[in-house]
Amino acid sequence: MTTILVTGGTGTLGRQVVPLLRETGAKVRVLSRQARTGDEGVEYAVADLLTGEGVEAAVDGAEIVVHLAGGQKGDDVATRTLAAAARKFGVRHLVYISVIGVGRVPLGWLRMKEAAEQAIEDSGVPWTTLRAAQFHDLVLKTLQGMTKSPVVPVPGGMRFQPVDTHDVAVRLVELALGEPAGLVPDLAGPQVYEMRDLITGYLRATGKRRLLLPIRVPGAAGKAYRDGANLTVTGADLGTRTWEQFAATAA
Ligand SMILES: NC(=O)c1ccc[n+]([C@@H]2O[C@H](COP(=O)([O-])OP(=O)(O)OC[C@H]3O[C@@H](n4cnc5c(N)ncnc54)[C@H](OP(=O)(O)O)[C@@H]3O)[C@@H](O)[C@H]2O)c1
Repeated sequence: MTTILVTGGTGTLGRQVVPLLRETGAKVRVLSRQARTGDEGVEYAVADLLTGEGVEAAVDGAEIVVHLAGGQKGDDVATRTLAAAARKFGVRHLVYISVIGVGRVPLGWLRMKEAAEQAIEDSGVPWTTLRAAQFHDLVLKTLQGMTKSPVVPVPGGMRFQPVDTHDVAVRLVELALGEPAGLVPDLAGPQVYEMRDLITGYLRATGKRRLLLPIRVPGAAGKAYRDGANLTVTGADLGTRTWEQFAATAA
């Protein structure tokens, strides 16, 4: 039975990836900073990718590593630590989830993701990296946060192509079980939305009344977004579930 280690298996994406991997008959090990009790066919390894504590023990014995752990800071450091352990223990396939816009939108956290991608590529382990658009879950969380205030800033010309987390999970499982493929086509949602439309649609659906304040995001990052650098490029794959379909079922 193949052992697959999933970092970030407790996160928004990981919670959808783990059961799909289980369904394939694989033995799944989830790396988490907290001790947890395993469900059938799933075991947990306590490790912290930022300190390195427990990482080698978590990787030992895994043939495939699906790296989904991420945060606001340190993904480059965490990924280098994981990649070194994967190489040491002869992992045969290292799969990474990155973000659309890497290399095209000049933002600090996207540079961090780029460095993490580089660590995967330099690991010496056969690898696959998928860049995904923002998940519907993140868009919902963002809209909930933005509309808490009575005045909602609306960045002009900013568009998003959100993708359903389940679509990303399905694609990642397919990639993890396939041959290492390097950087594969981006995965985004089936439709592009203006930020303004996402905000007004959310306000309508929740019955909230807010004052909208048009703003222009300054600098090179703002220009890159207005130029659509965060949208799919030719050859990208599209998810199936639209934002509207997701929003209709999300309370
Ligand atoms: N959200 C999006 O729209 C989006 C879009 C494209 C790509 N991505 C990428 O997809 C990945 C997953 O995103 P998500 O939204 O599912 O994340 P999430 O819900 O915030 O979950 C983060 C996960 O990372 C793990 N983690 C964080 N720091 C860790 C550390 N130091 N050591 C070990 N594990 C650590 C957490 O595990 P424990 O708390 O159990 O330790 C948790 O499972 C990230 O790399 C993200 O950049 C996200």
